[in-house]
Amino acid sequence: MTKNISGFSKLSKEEKINWLVNTYFDKDKNATQVLKRYWNTDEKLQQLHDDFIENSVSNFYFPLGVAPNFLINDRFYTLPMAIEESSVVAAASKSAKYWSERGGFRTKVLSEEKVGQVHFLFNGTSQKLVNFFNKKKAELLAKTDAITEKMRARGGGITDIKLLDKTSLIPNYYQLHIQFNTIDAMGANFINSCLECLAQELKILANDYSPFSSSEKEIEIVMSILSNYTPSCLVRAEVSCPIDKLGTIEGFAPHTFAEKFIKAVEIAEKEPYRAVTHNKGIMNGVDALVIATGNDFRAVEAGVHAYAARSGTYSSLSKAYLENNQFHFSLEIPLAIGTVGGVTQLHPLVKWSLKLLGNPSAKELMQIIASAGLAQNFAAVGSLVTSGIQKGHMKMHLLNILNQLNADSKQKEEAVLFFKNRNISFQEVQNFLEQTKKA
Ligand code: MEV
Repeated sequence: MTKNISGFSKLSKEEKINWLVNTYFDKDKNATQVLKRYWNTDEKLQQLHDDFIENSVSNFYFPLGVAPNFLINDRFYTLPMAIEESSVVAAASKSAKYWSERGGFRTKVLSEEKVGQVHFLFNGTSQKLVNFFNKKKAELLAKTDAITEKMRARGGGITDIKLLDKTSLIPNYYQLHIQFNTIDAMGANFINSCLECLAQELKILANDYSPFSSSEKEIEIVMSILSNYTPSCLVRAEVSCPIDKLGTIEGFAPHTFAEKFIKAVEIAEKEPYRAVTHNKGIMNGVDALVIATGNDFRAVEAGVHAYAARSGTYSSLSKAYLENNQFHFSLEIPLAIGTVGGVTQLHPLVKWSLKLLGNPSAKELMQIIASAGLAQNFAAVGSLVTSGIQKGHMKMHLLNILNQLNADSKQKEEAVLFFKNRNISFQEVQNFLEQTKKA
């Protein structure tokens, strides 16, 4: 049977599923059922989700959890977290509670600038292009007035436009490097619309520019697109307290804990293999919130990891140190996110999540997300240098193992009790279920 098809997107949803099940699932009716069980019975809501993308055949659920007790700049928040990994919400909640008793998170948006680029080729001398750009810059920008009008009314828009000579990288390669403030929007569509408009106008203006020779007039636009590298859209979060106030953690005295913790962060600063996992722990918190608030986690991930490698060596995004008997732990990350536009006003759970956070501005949401990242990192590194990660992780994973082994609710209750203070592994849980069956 052929496994390719043309015109698939034009089929109805039912026809698409039939084709998939006939082609890849041996016509197994169960395969259809799996998809349909996840359809929403509210047809309008289902249609809304189907309209998000092409070829939608079902919905893909993530649990939406909440982590209360986040004290951020003296205000309490309960964070919505969409994530499938068992221990993340528990770890965030534990850290949040711990730090709420020690002054909470202090956060600050350091900058909020986004970047877009028009990449083009110019077959002439750099100086001639610079003269042209300086003469035509205002005219070029004026062309975007209609697109930027609303954004300017909100205090944003294009904040700078530069011509960059990139001919040392590729012959004839130049860029328009444009900076934006998109206020509460992530702004991808806004930025890309401005860029395409600027690119088109650049070509027209060059064509009409009499000092240019005929080959100089033929500017070739390669592409116009925003950059997901946003090192000037930065947020910082910090927790700190006197060392003694750290308390005893998993049997470790405050000074011993602080020293081990700081050493672990230093290792992540210096050693890329560890840095990647260390930062992955941060992103557990960041992504869960980015997804729950309808933001683009791929954009955030790409930008954050590029930032972690900005020195040329991939390194930790967080820092820990002692100063005047005070323990400090901080995180600095770029976060190009929004609270308006995209699916933020469309997806009912996104709207719910934003409401839970008090409908924050993008700046406020950046600070909340950074706090979630720092909380997650504190919990992970705190466990790693004390009890090890598996104890807490497996405790949260126990229900997944029980579900995998088809345990009923009574068995689950008994297993949770039994494994309260015991090591958990798939084998141990299986043994336990077999023993209880026999009993
Ligand atoms: C697991 O999802 C995240 C950790 O590996 C992070 C870390 O090692 O710091 C626990």
